[in-house]
Amino acid sequence: MSGKKDELNQRDTIDNTKKAPLTTNQGLPVSEDEFSLKAGERGPTLMEDFHFREKMTHFDHERIPERVVHARGFGVHGEFEVYESLEQYTKAKFLTEPGRKTPVFTRFSTVAGSRGSMDIPRDVRGFATKFYTDEGNFDLVGNNMPVFFMQDAIKFPDFVHAVKPEPHNEMPQAASAHNTFWDYVSMNTESAHMVMWLMSDRAIPKSLSMMEGFGVHTFRLVNAEGKSHFVKFHWKPKDGMHSVLWDEAQMINGKNIDFNRQTLWENIEKGIPAEFELGLQIIDENDEFKMDFDILDPTKLWPEEDVPVQIVGKMTLNQNVDNYFAETEQVAFHPGSVVPGIDFSNDPLLQGRLFSYTDTQLIRLGGPNFHQIPINRPVCPFSNNQRDGYGQMSIHKGQTAHHINHMNDNQPEPLSPKEGGYEHYHEKVEGRKIQARSDSFKDHFSQAKMFLNSLSKHEKQHLYDAFSFELGKCDMEIRELAINNLLNFIDRDLTEYVADHVGVAAPSENNESTYDKSSPALSMTNTNFSL
Ligand code: HEM
Repeated sequence: MSGKKDELNQRDTIDNTKKAPLTTNQGLPVSEDEFSLKAGERGPTLMEDFHFREKMTHFDHERIPERVVHARGFGVHGEFEVYESLEQYTKAKFLTEPGRKTPVFTRFSTVAGSRGSMDIPRDVRGFATKFYTDEGNFDLVGNNMPVFFMQDAIKFPDFVHAVKPEPHNEMPQAASAHNTFWDYVSMNTESAHMVMWLMSDRAIPKSLSMMEGFGVHTFRLVNAEGKSHFVKFHWKPKDGMHSVLWDEAQMINGKNIDFNRQTLWENIEKGIPAEFELGLQIIDENDEFKMDFDILDPTKLWPEEDVPVQIVGKMTLNQNVDNYFAETEQVAFHPGSVVPGIDFSNDPLLQGRLFSYTDTQLIRLGGPNFHQIPINRPVCPFSNNQRDGYGQMSIHKGQTAHHINHMNDNQPEPLSPKEGGYEHYHEKVEGRKIQARSDSFKDHFSQAKMFLNSLSKHEKQHLYDAFSFELGKCDMEIRELAINNLLNFIDRDLTEYVADHVGVAAPSENNESTYDKSSPALSMTNTNFSL
């Protein structure tokens, strides 16, 4: 078997491209599919028509809930190969054996729009990859921007409520152009850095193969000796990075909402793959506190001048799906799916994500057996004592389903770490139960400024205009709030430009934020500010 797709073809495909007799789900050949069974020429349809009933019932249940975020996505199969062994850092086999080709499935997505929304809104792009390794599935569930809107997972539901269409009238679909979004980011100023990325050209990529990917969080790599390094994962596109202009984005969305997915699909059909190199930034565990910020803070990136990105392997996406729903819609990623040699950090955003994904998939994919859906199933054998539940598709043999037992038919046994069993990193942890983080989490603006300063002249202009366009759609009060609480703490020129373009007075340079960064619980004070 060379890839996940071959496995799917061997085991799960129903080939509807070939002529075959029409049957019911019970396999009964059907002779009539255009007229239901009726009582006489002008009589009612009869309940007895099992083919009609079955066909209609299945249709009635065809839709599943779309993802609560990242609903619109596009998936592609491919493979990954590491260039040189990374055994110095990790014992993960897919990262230590050059020549080994690991099947992958990548789903690109927008975040805020619904499943039928357009391809090029101003938005973050999801970049999630499932590596089907021989040691189990490893999911790298990233975005095309290296930081995030918040530092702690507890804020995620509030943030998403603010980003999604407003609850009373379900408008607008465009995430970054409405009152609730700007209200949220202005009152949670840890968003400042990410908002800068969102207002930059990164938020309107020209093609899905022309954007970077980032794991965002700090993870750990652990080698065979048990030594750990902190790591950030990157994807670098071989096609380079390209964006469209905002005017182009609006025109493309107006003409073809499928622009990005269609380009990728057609390229792959023509034999032109999308290629990305995997990059790692690595920090020795002993250097955990050497940066002037906390490396567990997901609103901060590790400057590449300080921690260079080492290119370690390549992913080639080269096969389209056979069925969008079965593969792209049913795929279930989880940042907690790791393999031996990869572990988590205590980034409080990552820790919260570890809970959220399975929880949502239990309802989205109808119960606890969604790991058995072909696109989610590991390519290596898997076996345990979990049983029953909705959608059970395997027949587990044997009398027992419990561990430990001494009856002969119960085979699944834990392996020792030496034999390949997963071992959590033995990090030393101690402390009091508190809700705050280290002090540098309160610095919300240094890297936002750094980002602005890294832009070229025309990129800066695009960002200035993006702020003006998006804020210009908000109520006056929200425009003032965002300019006062965010822009005024980032850059004077930006503040004055945007204030001028959205018709409000620029706040004085010394104006205080209405968001109080000094409280450990990050509470808000002083909502009376003047501009
Ligand atoms: C999808 C939760 C932060 C990347 C999702 C889904 C949930 C979720 C519930 C839908 C999953 C599904 O239905 O299968 C959260 C929470 C977060 C968080 C609670 C913070 C506390 C992030 C961050 C990233 C990210 C920081 C990027 C590093 C993604 C991607 C998807 C996704 C790429 C789509 C996966 C796919 O294509 O199926 N997230 N998320 N999320 N999330 Fe997050």
